[in-house]
Amino acid sequence: TLNSATADRSAGTEAGVNPPRIAMPRHYLMCRPEHFTVAYRINPWMDPAVPTDTSLAVRQWQTLYDTYRELGHEVQLIDQIDGLPDMVYTANGGFVIGNVAYGAKFTHPQRQPEGPAFMDWFRANGYDVVEPQNVNEGEGDFLLVGSRILAGTGFRSATDSHREIGELFDREVVSLTLVNPNFYHLDTAISVLDPLTDDAGANIAYLPSAFDADSRATLERLYPEAIIVSEQDGSVLGLNSISDGYNVVIAARAKGFEQQLRDRGYNPIGVDLSELLLGGGGVKCCTLELRR
Ligand code: ARG
Repeated sequence: TLNSATADRSAGTEAGVNPPRIAMPRHYLMCRPEHFTVAYRINPWMDPAVPTDTSLAVRQWQTLYDTYRELGHEVQLIDQIDGLPDMVYTANGGFVIGNVAYGAKFTHPQRQPEGPAFMDWFRANGYDVVEPQNVNEGEGDFLLVGSRILAGTGFRSATDSHREIGELFDREVVSLTLVNPNFYHLDTAISVLDPLTDDAGANIAYLPSAFDADSRATLERLYPEAIIVSEQDGSVLGLNSISDGYNVVIAARAKGFEQQLRDRGYNPIGVDLSELLLGGGGVKCCTLELRR
């Protein structure tokens, strides 16, 4: 009956059903978008004919920065270089575990100078930098989940970089193939909610249609309890989010995902980055995790 169905649903949201969600302090690298614009088109979100408002981009970015600070996270900044409008998407600048920073090697010539710029920052801040041999766009395509690294390919990072990063960090790497150009980086199609465990009931969320059939089967096998998001939430880059294990900063427009997160015991926090979405990036794209 209607009543028992309702009772069952609310029972699933009670504390005790979900594993405990514990917030851990994080350390991020961000880039204030002082030179943000859309000057070229390297993904379907970008249209140089649509005007951008740099000061609005900065204000929206500032709310994301302030949100992290209020949650108690440490945020370091890299200065944006004039002429590199996509530098605001720091997630693409590398992949860091401990003191080792694996550098990025960008697919498109427009972003290639960002690789050395981020490596310079890592060196100046005391990281051991490993110069990449293969094309890869950092945390855009590499996501650390428990003991493994999920690695995206299809549009940007080369599969040779998956092998390279696995050897470098001595971790299992699971390659996943993206098939929809709107979801060209892995972090637009998967959200890591709890990076510390291999499967703790919904430690990732993803959009199945962004992947080929083999990759979908792999995700179903590894993460049977994952949150499956709707096309609608995926299409506002709702999955491009940042979690500290409890608080999940997401696109404010991803209302369905927001409810799914609440049901699984997380605390979603919506922010509006509409201006940065014009470049094809959201919350996660603007955030590189420094795991010291
Ligand atoms: N305009 C940038 C590009 O196409 C956006 C990068 C978004 N970053 C991300 N981690 N998904 O490369």
